[in-house]
Amino acid sequence: MSTLKAVRGTRDLLPPETALWNRIEATARRVFARYNFGEIRTPIFEDTSLFARSVGEETDIVSKEMYTWEDRARAQSEKPQSLTLRPENTAGVVRAYIEHKLGETGQLQKLYYIGPQFRRERPQKGRYRQFWQIGAEVIGPPSAGSESPLRDAEVLDMLAALLDDLGITGWTLHLNSVGSAADRARYNDVLRAALASVAPKMCADCQRRAVTNPLRVLDCKVPEDQPIIETLPRIADHLDPASKEHFAAVTAALDAAGVTYTLNPRLVRGLDYYTRTTFEFTHGGLGAQNALLGGGRYDGLSEALGGPRAPGIGFAIGLDRLVLTLQAQQEQAAVADKVDAYVAPMADAKDAAKLAAMNAAGLALARELRRAGLSVELGDGSFRLKKSFEAADKTARRIVILGEDELQSGILTVKDFSIGNQTKVPRAELAAHLAAPSHQ
Ligand code: HAM
Repeated sequence: MSTLKAVRGTRDLLPPETALWNRIEATARRVFARYNFGEIRTPIFEDTSLFARSVGEETDIVSKEMYTWEDRARAQSEKPQSLTLRPENTAGVVRAYIEHKLGETGQLQKLYYIGPQFRRERPQKGRYRQFWQIGAEVIGPPSAGSESPLRDAEVLDMLAALLDDLGITGWTLHLNSVGSAADRARYNDVLRAALASVAPKMCADCQRRAVTNPLRVLDCKVPEDQPIIETLPRIADHLDPASKEHFAAVTAALDAAGVTYTLNPRLVRGLDYYTRTTFEFTHGGLGAQNALLGGGRYDGLSEALGGPRAPGIGFAIGLDRLVLTLQAQQEQAAVADKVDAYVAPMADAKDAAKLAAMNAAGLALARELRRAGLSVELGDGSFRLKKSFEAADKTARRIVILGEDELQSGILTVKDFSIGNQTKVPRAELAAHLAAPSHQ
């Protein structure tokens, strides 16, 4: 039988990298709390029609990237239900908003989520079939201010704060407005007309998109098509006065808050529910898949799903890509996340009784330190001194030697790897000593 491996496009996350994932998630939760967001957890799979009606039938995601199956009916009379692993989480959040009548609270709902999403894309660096998103949505009845450009600016300010807190430098915020649904429909017609004469000179995908979904042409990455795309009409010139005014207010609020951005008239995004503000943060360290996160407004989504009027705005960060960016910046998890101490019991490996007793003493000491809140790795009395030091140096900031002498005297030998010195520490003071930062 062949060896089993993780499925193509999925992967295992192992220590020490998972420490970095945890640190990012903890930072996100902290920043979101500062902006008064609460966590929502929606199911990993939903009825297929939810995604068809929100993300859009014509999008790449719905037309070719979803993991969909027919769930067998329980009773003969029941029809099988078409279910899909969520390719994104905004649709699920808005479904939950409608289902739980959150609009009836009259309050703005500020919700965040952290979880896996699934898309059958061609795997490459930064693109997986199971990937993780950290996202947030602000949604509510118009009377709660959900349509206000202030919310767009606040969400973008929160993202800038999060990236700053994570120590990510060198990102660019690309900003655009795709207008109201009516603006978009009008612009689609203008674009379709303009494409009629030039599309035959473009790539096969663009020729198809020129007919089915002209906006998608603006996403094309084929180098030969770029000069043609640059000459196409721009959506900014086709916004109605209200959308224009809304966008001007968003940029004015960003200017006032000191959040820097680049206007990108080609940013139309790959999901159909967007209206007005759309944005992406890119990072140069990511290569071809350079979108660290994306988002925007979706003022008509709730109604499209049969709910009340509930404008909203949100984003999703690609957590896998955030990790890659931090790793590229050499903020390696391994350095920051060594355990506080490595307890090394020392015994004569040939004397089984003594070895067992010393290992038990080691476990008791590790237990004492762990109860004091320290992170501790425990060695084994059968290891030679050299092996204990090597193992400890890889995993811990300090090693604590526990041999017969130390056990009798209650004075332990501690070596600090970062400064290379060795000291004797009474057992009663050991936890405090190990908790303190390294000092000469
Ligand atoms: P999206 O642009 O499709 O938007 O995805 C957001 C982010 O998820 C991307 O910028 C990227 O970092 C990451 N991502 C997407 N696909 C993959 C993949 N195959 N592998 C790794 N990372 C990936 C949305 O999903 C919207 N729901 C965002 C949103 C929330 N808009 C409003 N609210």
